[in-house]
Amino acid sequence: MAAVVIVGAQWGDEGKGKVVDIFTEQADLVVRFGGGPNAGHTLVVNGDKVVVRLIPSGILHPRTRCVLGQGMVIDPASLFLEIDELVRRGRLPVDVGHDRLAVSDRAHAILPYHVTIDTLREAGRGAIGTTKRGVGPCYEDKVARRGLQLGVLRDLRRTRDLVERALEAWAPTAAALGGTLPTASEVMDKLEPLAARLVPLLTDTAVIAEAAVRAKKKVLFEGAQGTLLDVDHGTYPFVTSSSATAGGACTGAGVGPTRIDKVFGLVKAYTTRVGSGPFPTELNDETGERLRQKGAEFGSVTGRPRRTGWLDLPALAYATRVNGLDALALTKLDVLTGLPELRVCVAYRAADGAERPFPIDDEPGVTPVYETLPGWTEPLEGARKLSDLPKAARAYVDFIEQKAGSPIELVSVGPGREETILLTDPFGG
Ligand code: GDP
Ligand code: IMO
Ligand code: MG
Repeated sequence: MAAVVIVGAQWGDEGKGKVVDIFTEQADLVVRFGGGPNAGHTLVVNGDKVVVRLIPSGILHPRTRCVLGQGMVIDPASLFLEIDELVRRGRLPVDVGHDRLAVSDRAHAILPYHVTIDTLREAGRGAIGTTKRGVGPCYEDKVARRGLQLGVLRDLRRTRDLVERALEAWAPTAAALGGTLPTASEVMDKLEPLAARLVPLLTDTAVIAEAAVRAKKKVLFEGAQGTLLDVDHGTYPFVTSSSATAGGACTGAGVGPTRIDKVFGLVKAYTTRVGSGPFPTELNDETGERLRQKGAEFGSVTGRPRRTGWLDLPALAYATRVNGLDALALTKLDVLTGLPELRVCVAYRAADGAERPFPIDDEPGVTPVYETLPGWTEPLEGARKLSDLPKAARAYVDFIEQKAGSPIELVSVGPGREETILLTDPFGG
């Protein structure tokens, strides 16, 4: 098995970073296929915490090549902040080249005016709680066919021309929102030194990904965000602007669907969401606060408290369907320790009593139906095999596996690399 896709099955922050880091131990190539600096993927190795936003979560493994794919939107300033931080911490060589970290020349540049527009909108009526990193406006430029693909940075005159055109296009929006955009010269002054650093990392990364898969190398396709934030399949309009589902791996990395061998869905043992939008199993009580504190549920990009709630199995069934999930990784099981009982949403019901699927369009009057399972008090962090788990924790895992209908192949019991029960070889089979 060569090509494995990792996607979030919920609203993001399921622990993709940790799982990709662990799987990368064996991987030759890790390709991030979508999103931008709205993502925050956390890796914890020997107690040392690294948060990556744009850089693939395989980066701590020196043998593995990492790729930022063409489905991404990349803020050059953020990218070099990240690279410089990793160099400072001795995790990347000063002269990192595209043999180690390759960036797609077809990915789009997030520029300061994208951030301005995102921020202005978030202060007004249309706010949905974005990360204000310019991600939405950058994807808008891409779809409007006036975006700046990173390859254009090889020609600064063309770059300036595109920046001027984008500024013209955004000017009425900025004025209507009561803000001002930076000038083309301001944008170019910041961009030019970054372009000089970025151009050597640029290449056609689709060729790299496809060749690796064809040669049966072990390739991980790393998703960002989660299924319910996907622009097509999520809780629209409270979504991000990219394809966070498995199909996005093909378009965002540049490999055909026939090349993918396995799709892994990541699911937290409960649910979280940052930003606005429907969240039917949300807990606005002491239990929700307890999950937030114990799970350290504060955004890794914005520091915002994450909303918390019970696990939602109809939502997982939905994610299984739209991603074609083959297997699950269940994370943050340890966070549930100490709760006297656990509730799990097993169905939805409309006012007339009829069962409904996950209410993706927020149909009014549809409410969750819960089953209650016993809790446990033992800490789980030391568990390395399923039989190390207390009986009730094991029963919780079995219950999810049985209802989800896909095998759970990894259970995570703490943020550290070692705090993991790995049940199969991710590239096996
Ligand atoms: P991602 O966006 O999906 O990569 O997830 P984030 O990194 O944004 O959020 C997951 C958070 O949970 C991070 O702080 C991780 O270090 C942490 N984490 C991951 N797995 C576990 C786990 O099994 N238990 C606990 N307690 N924390 C975990
Ligand atoms: P990772 O990869 C959680 C959410 C934002 C907001 C919505 C739109 O770490 O799981 P955007 O800035 O993308 O236009 O915001 O999407 N969002 C995330 N929530 N994890 C993420 O990424 C997210 N990326 C975007 O909070 O609700
Ligand atoms: Mg995150």
